[in-house]
Amino acid sequence: MSGVHNIVILTGAGVSAESGIDTFRDSGGLWEQHRVEDVATPEAFVRDPDLVHRFYDARRAAIQTKQPNAAHAALARLDAHWPGELLIVTQNVDDLHERAGAKRLIHMHGEHLNAWCTACDRRSPWTGTLIDRPACPACGMVGYLRPDVVWFGEMPYRMDDIYRAINRADLFVSIGTSGAVYPAAGFVREARQAGARTLELNMEPSQGSYWFDEARQGPATQLVPQWVDQLLGF
Ligand code: APR
Repeated sequence: MSGVHNIVILTGAGVSAESGIDTFRDSGGLWEQHRVEDVATPEAFVRDPDLVHRFYDARRAAIQTKQPNAAHAALARLDAHWPGELLIVTQNVDDLHERAGAKRLIHMHGEHLNAWCTACDRRSPWTGTLIDRPACPACGMVGYLRPDVVWFGEMPYRMDDIYRAINRADLFVSIGTSGAVYPAAGFVREARQAGARTLELNMEPSQGSYWFDEARQGPATQLVPQWVDQLLGF
């Protein structure tokens, strides 16, 4: 792809599906098993913190048993070899991109393996449970730790950095996301307005497929390595 220097890549749950992590909206997905209103809003946390902690404690334990797949590995390889600007913006709260070696990465919806203290506002690495109300490692306060996950109605992280990169992008690529949740679902139009080429790699057309110059369907572990090889000219 000639003339491509600056790349922004948006990833979603589909990129981790083949590592055995449930997506949200596919059949049997998380939002079929749980009501968003019960586990993924600030109101739910006030109403029934134990229910919310049980949900995230289980997912935090589960992702530590999973491994990055060929799609994560290919994106880490691109990150290592791409001479121009590159930013991976993930909606995922698992750590599989990092474990595969990706460095130029933003978690716009937070991270499972952090606990966020609402007393001192600091985030601490966390692999255990929160339901037993442990003390904050930073300030010592008890009962103020919550999952470091952006819930519905809350502002995603580092939006200024993300929009700055999108507005400099020559190429915007969306991988494994349904395009159901904003602001991420609006990035493709922002990128188009900035003059970028747009490509979707997904198991099926997303809700925003219409906005992409090109859309390829299939599993991420096949599509992503093929695309990265093509881009790096391997
Ligand atoms: N390879 C490629 N794409 C896949 C695969 C796969 N193996 N498996 C599923 N997909 C695609 C599905 O077709 C679907 O379009 O991944 C997408 C997953 O969509 P969602 O489950 O809606 O997940 P995502 O788009 O990441 O959700 C966005 O919503 O619930 C909130 O905060 C949560 O970050 C999440 C946001």
